[in-house]
Amino acid sequence: MKQSPWFVTLLLFLLLLAPSLVQAGTIVGSYHDMTFINEKHHWRPKPDFLIEIDVINNYNEICVYCHTPHNATVEVPLWNRELSAVTYTTYSSGSMTTQPGQPSHYSLLCLSCHDGTLAIDAIANYNPSTAELLNYPDPHGSMKAGPGYNTHTDCYSCHRGNTLFPNFAPSFLTTDLSNDHPIAMTYPESPKYHSPLDSENFANGIRLIDGKVECSTCHNVHDPDIKPFLRTSNVGSELCLTCHIK
Ligand code: HEC
Ligand code: HEC
Ligand code: HEC
Ligand code: HEC
Ligand code: HEC
Repeated sequence: MKQSPWFVTLLLFLLLLAPSLVQAGTIVGSYHDMTFINEKHHWRPKPDFLIEIDVINNYNEICVYCHTPHNATVEVPLWNRELSAVTYTTYSSGSMTTQPGQPSHYSLLCLSCHDGTLAIDAIANYNPSTAELLNYPDPHGSMKAGPGYNTHTDCYSCHRGNTLFPNFAPSFLTTDLSNDHPIAMTYPESPKYHSPLDSENFANGIRLIDGKVECSTCHNVHDPDIKPFLRTSNVGSELCLTCHIK
């Protein structure tokens, strides 16, 4: 059968498009692959520092630090983490129409590592036959900083706290979210805001969760390609302008 030229052109176009459609970045080896953290710490000596420490229980699985197939702590989407029970200080501003609430469990998941109150390896279920345990169930290795940190395995006793390693800073937000972009508020219908395509999704991947702005609205934990784990590039403030009409 003889194909018409436009059909061949279309086919070539689709073939060119295909890789960009299937190639999403992978969590494997990213900052959210906790299985490699200890390995990074069995490290070649710097001229003035030799480091050989295990900082977390290594469960030798990537997903397990956040998800479990059974006995989840929160059903959707199968969280395997203990969530912090603290009350967060939320962003507040007289010029806002919305009211940020306490973070939903979607954002609490992120905060269970990124607020510094819980250890990175504090999970509910793991496979004991493949795990390398340091002192399970004692969770340790958290992002907390300042005089609050108490063991040499807390990230900030070296990262950011130690000027020898300025290239890496575990980013922790603390429980004071008043200096962070507001979360846990219902997305407003307003002439100051673009509307999503449907109830949740914008064309560039930015998404609302249960109609709200949460950490995963802007971030994709699974994909390190657009740093830092962003759903879309923020060059020219593209990410911000997805929502704000400015
Ligand atoms: C650092 C925490 C973290 C790790 C590690 C993690 N996830 Fe997730 N996962 C999340 C969060 C947060 C969500 C919900 C927000 C979203 O969908 O982006 C989610 C949602 C999901 C979903 C449902 C929504 C979707 O995107 O399809 C699936 C499936 C999933 N994860 C699979 C995995 C698998 C498989 C792994 C391991 C290879 C993994 N995740 C590792 C945090 C994590
Ligand atoms: C005793 C000091 C020390 C402690 C405590 C420590 N780290 Fe590190 N970490 C280092 C050093 C040194 C490196 C290598 C830095 C370099 O390549 O210059 C490193 C590297 C890393 C890397 C790889 C960074 C990269 O860009 O390749 C990650 C991820 C990491 N650490 C996470 C953590 C986490 C999470 C914690 C807490 C659970 C922690 N570290 C605690 C000293 C420490
Ligand atoms: C199991 C612990 C854990 C959970 C849960 C977790 N993170 Fe992380 N995250 C880390 C560690 C460890 C790093 C590497 C050190 C750092 O930069 O803080 C990191 C790094 C990051 C970075 C910086 C990446 C870079 O390239 O510099 C961002 C952004 C981030 N996480 C966002 C999130 C968001 C959003 C969530 C929830 C959807 C989340 N994280 C959930 C442990 C976690
Ligand atoms: C409105 C969008 C938006 C929301 C919501 C959001 N972030 Fe971010 N986040 C960003 C952007 C954009 C950056 C990159 C900032 C930069 O590069 O200067 C970032 C950076 C980060 C970093 C790296 C900071 C550093 O010091 O290197 C972490 C960690 C992080 N976010 C975690 C979170 C967590 C946890 C939540 C929820 C509590 C959250 N983010 C909610 C947009 C967002
Ligand atoms: C998913 C949509 C979304 C994205 C993406 C987003 N914002 Fe927002 N932003 C909101 C909403 C909703 C509010 C609360 C608005 C209100 O209640 O009036 C808000 C509030 C704010 C406020 C506080 C306004 C006030 O009145 O105090 C600032 C500042 C802000 N955003 C800046 C940014 C910046 C900068 C970026 C990019 C890094 C960004 N936003 C990305 C939706 C978004």
